[in-house]
Amino acid sequence: MRTDHSRLCIFPFGGGPRNCIGDQFALMESTVALAILLQKFDVEVRGSPESSVELVSGATINAKNGMWCKLKRRTK
Ligand code: HEM
Repeated sequence: MRTDHSRLCIFPFGGGPRNCIGDQFALMESTVALAILLQKFDVEVRGSPESSVELVSGATINAKNGMWCKLKRRTK
């Protein structure tokens, strides 16, 4: 079970009484989308994300210059 503290460590869906009502749907949808992608492709991260990926915050949090990956279609 999440505590109030862990709920506020990251809040892409806002917080308080007017927070996003679609948050659980959006998290489920993104999990399903990632699962479908990973069924079809193996993903290899290029370089060292710890040092080369810079985060920028706006309406959402993004990797400033993306995160380069190599996708290889899975055979089974
Ligand atoms: C990655 C996907 C999404 C992100 C990042 C997101 C983010 C947000 C944010 C930041 C707010 C403002 C919260 C605040 O003012 O504290 C918001 C509000 C809202 N979101 Fe989302 N949202 C997402 C998906 C969805 C989906 C899928 C739905 C509906 C199915 C939805 C429905 C709403 C509604 C109705 C509000 C207004 C709530 C209110 O004013 O009481 N959102 N969302």
